[in-house]
Order: sequence, then structure tokens, then C-alpha cells
Amino acid sequence: MPDYETFEHDVLIIGAGGAGLRAAIEASAAGVRVGLVCKSLLGKAHTVMAEGGIAAALANVDERDNWKVHFADTMRGGQYVNQWRMAELHAKEAPDRVRELEAWGAVFDRTKDGRILQRHFGGHKYPRLAHVGDRTGLEMIRTLQDHGVHQGIDVHMEHTVLSLLKDGSRVVGAFGYERERGRFKIFGAKAVVLATGGIGRAYKITSNSWEYTGDGHALAYEAGAELIDMEFVQFHPTGMVWPPSVMGILVTEGVRGEGGILLNKDGKRFMFEAIPENYRAHTADDEEEGWRYCQGHKDARRPPELLTRDHVSRCIVREIKEGRGSPHGGVYLDISWIKQKMPNAAEHIKRKLPSMYHQFKQLADIDITEQPMEVGPTTHYIMGGVRVDPDTQMTRLPGLFAAGECAAGINGANRLGGNSLSDLLVFGKRAGEYAAKFARENQHGQINTNDIDSAAREALASFERSNGENPYAIQKDLQETMQNLVGIVRTETEMREALEKIGNFKTRAKKAAVTGNREYNPGWHTALDLKNLLTISEAITRAALDRKESRGAQFREDYPDKEERFSKVNTIMSKAADDSMQVRLEPLPEMPDDLKQIIEENR
Ligand code: FUM
Repeated sequence: MPDYETFEHDVLIIGAGGAGLRAAIEASAAGVRVGLVCKSLLGKAHTVMAEGGIAAALANVDERDNWKVHFADTMRGGQYVNQWRMAELHAKEAPDRVRELEAWGAVFDRTKDGRILQRHFGGHKYPRLAHVGDRTGLEMIRTLQDHGVHQGIDVHMEHTVLSLLKDGSRVVGAFGYERERGRFKIFGAKAVVLATGGIGRAYKITSNSWEYTGDGHALAYEAGAELIDMEFVQFHPTGMVWPPSVMGILVTEGVRGEGGILLNKDGKRFMFEAIPENYRAHTADDEEEGWRYCQGHKDARRPPELLTRDHVSRCIVREIKEGRGSPHGGVYLDISWIKQKMPNAAEHIKRKLPSMYHQFKQLADIDITEQPMEVGPTTHYIMGGVRVDPDTQMTRLPGLFAAGECAAGINGANRLGGNSLSDLLVFGKRAGEYAAKFARENQHGQINTNDIDSAAREALASFERSNGENPYAIQKDLQETMQNLVGIVRTETEMREALEKIGNFKTRAKKAAVTGNREYNPGWHTALDLKNLLTISEAITRAALDRKESRGAQFREDYPDKEERFSKVNTIMSKAADDSMQVRLEPLPEMPDDLKQIIEENR
């Protein structure tokens, strides 16, 4: 084996978004040596794209809020296939995590009496999102980074991890490379935390940044951990649709939280037409009522634009399909209409939604204080991910932990907006705490040099091939396949076609060829990303095929209703001895009576 540069940490954290940074802070505070590997530059995490706020029942704006209502909202949003214990811990601990962030220097918008201000978001009964304009994720990363760098964490920026290293069933480190120079690195660790985020880059239209290629999901799966509920991919209702170069970029739900309305090409507010039965009691049926809600009137019901994301996305798709869309294939999102209601509306919009104002001005030449935006659904988040113990965040592999979007359980079939940032804080902390504990209780394991050799050979194979395929072409075809055949509306026939295509892409990926050398070579990076993208695409498709029903983010045109037999099961995926992907349905753990009662009381 060549002499690769080797690092030794007690806890290695892969990913430096909200979950990774929070885990690093916690592990480091527990007195162990922490290494943090990130694919991009520190501070450039995709967490910054979670704009609208952090969901936590602080009850600063509505004193009726508490963890029980937040728990019930999260379970309802997830259509009751959430891991209830994670939803419980999340709802109970989120307020402390937000206050802690404030103590570390996060600057939140304020109520008149100086407390953290909270705004409305879809599916949350009360105004619950602690926010900083529409730059909450950015503020969170800034704060965690500032706090973390003073704790002596070793940061390895612009590194990609290619495989996890094992000693028996235990995970003992990772093998990867430095992206700029292409040099391989070995990271020995007593415990490893995956915090790599999501999978959006498997789709053509996505709000996700380039790093989101399902790395943590695929690394865990390849190492022998299980994936859970991969069929549940969230399509955020509002991404930019025009110009083409910015298609998919997020338009925060905060716009609708501040009173933005959705209109079709005829100027009709179409969301009033399809209010689901279970939300009818809480949803406004006229404009005035919805506006009063956004203005904070406690007796008002939410506007239908603030129904859950799965529902709003499907309504938008319906409008577009039936020929009532906007010129560039979306619908209109209008916040400028609030001028009819507020004398200082333009200033208010710029203050509450500064990023949206600049985003549309600079990228689309639209002044959102005067004109409507054109928006459409964009792949935003995956509820599925690495299966973990709800309390410790450890996978079934000793020493391997996961947190944040790449872990799963809390969100069930659909995540409520804002629950992601709080998830990162709550479970990032827990992962860091328990990984540090594991590291203190165990010695470093043995790293197998044969594993390193074969990972290095595999990584360099695309340089050895001549006349092979361009990795970008394979990636593009995969993204189109997932977008068209495993998207918002799914059918068995289309998903079977997708599976066949994914099989072909795998064959093509084995023949992918790159030119040049390992330094500054984006073609090579793309060739390496393909493996993970293909693994998670197959997982999403197989899980979606097996769940023969529509629930939350999964809508099956051939099974348009919820089915009782799927109402209490998760989809579990693991790698079989013959390398095939195994899918099984497993019953959820029985929920304790006190939690059942909370759900009943908050229906
Ligand atoms: O719309 C948004 O600001 C996104 C937030 C989230 O996904 O939690």
C-alpha cells in the first residue's frame, strides 16, 4: 500500500452542515479529539439554504404552544410513520437548542418585548419558526462555526470520503481524498458520525447544492447499515422556474408565512379548491381569514398555501398539467398583493425576505414587492436515510452514527418546514455526545490495508479507461430518469422502467472514463459521485415500488389512497451477501399510551 497521509481522531465527523458542526461541538466539549471532514469549504454548507427558520415550541408568539403540540404536528405531517421517539425528543429538546444557539451569538429577529420572534410555516399549528429574516440557516452555520473553531476541532476542508473502514462489524475510520490535489487520505477514528445531508442531486430540478449526492446514505449502506423510508422524497412547492440556469433554487416557505399567495395564470387562488378533510377545521376558506392568520391573529385559521408541502406541490403540478400554469411552467407566488393591506408593504417585504428580494432582482429581474414570482416544485429533502437508534443516533454498526438529513426517522412520510434545522441541532448534539462516549469506551480498531488498496484502485479506475463514457452524460441521464419516472407522481410502470435504466447506468458508470490527472479534475469527482447517486436512486425507486400506497411525499397514481396495511410500517433496505439491495417492511415500534393521547388531544 502506498504511504497515504493518515490522521487519527477519536471522533470523525463527515459533513460540516448544522448536524456535523453541532456534533463536533458536543464531542469536542466531551474532551475527545475531533476531526471534521467536509466536501466543500467550511461555512458553505447546504444548511444555509434552509431559509425560513428553526421550528421550536418556544411559545414566544403564541403561549398555547408547547412540545406536545409540536410533537403532534410533526407526527400528523409525517402521516404517523415517524419514529415516535425521535419526534418526541425533537419536540422536547428543540427549544433548548435554539436558546443555546442564541447564547452562542445567533442574532434572531425579535418580538416587540425582545424575545426570539417566531413565524408561521406549513403544518405547524402555531407560529413556531425562530428566524433571522430569510437567512436563518446562514446565521445558524455562522454561529456554530464561530463557536466550533474555538474548540480545537481539526477541519479537513474540500475532502470527499469514498468508503468507511471496518474492523469486523465495527466502523473504525474512513478513506477519502483531498479534492483539489486528488491525494488519498486515511482517517482512523474510534467513532464516525455521518452528517452529509441529502440526495437532491439525483434529480434534475433541485434546491440542493452540488455536495448533495447521497454520500452518507451510500457509505452507510455499503458498510452494512440499514436505510429506512427512502421512498419519501420531499418536493418543496416553491423553487424558481425561470431563468433556466437557476431552475430549482429555493423560494422560502417564509414568503407564504408572510402572506404570499399562490395563483394560476387566470389569477385564481387555486389552493382554496383542495383542502384535505383532516386539515379543513384548521384551514381558512377565504382570503381575509388567511391574511389575519399571517398577521398573528390567534383566532384565525391558516391560509391553504400553508398546508403541508406534499399537498401544495401536488396542487401546483395539477394546475400546470391542466394548462393553468405560468409561461415558464410554474405558477405564480405573489407577496406584492399585501400592499392592499399594509401601507409600508415594500419595506416590510425587504426586511422580512431580504434574500428573496435580491435573489429575484438579480437572477430574474423581478421586483417581488411589485410583481409575482414564477415558482414550481423542486426536489428539496429526503425524509428517508440511515437507520439509527433514536436516543444515541448509532446505526446497527458499532461506532457508526448518523445525524441530520442523512439519518432518518423523525419526519416519517413528510417533513414540516423548519423541522430540519431543529433536527440538525437536536440530533447533531446527541450524535456528538454518544459518539464521544463510544470513543471513550473503545480503543482504535485495526485498519485493513487491503480495503484501502481496493478502494484506491476503484477510485482510480476511470483514469485507466480509454474511449469510455463521459461521467457527466451518465449523471444527466440519471437525473432526468429520476425526475421523470420517480418524481412527485409515481406509477409502477414508470418506476420499473426507472429501475431498468438505473441498471444500465450502473453498467455505463463502470465504463466511465476521465482524462487528465487527479489535480483539479471535476470530471473525476463526477465519476466518483456516480456510485452514490446510483445507490440512492435505486433505493428510492425500490422503496417507492414496495410502498403500494400514497402517503405524505409519496404519491402513487396507481394507488392514490392511504392503505391500512402500510399505516404502521417502515421500509427497510440493506445490502445482501450477493450485493443485491434487499427491501423489507417492518412494523413501527408500538407508541406509548401517553404519546397516543397527546396525538388524540391535538387532532
Ligand atoms: O422554505 C424554507 O425556508 C425551507 C425550510 C426548510 O426546508 O426547513
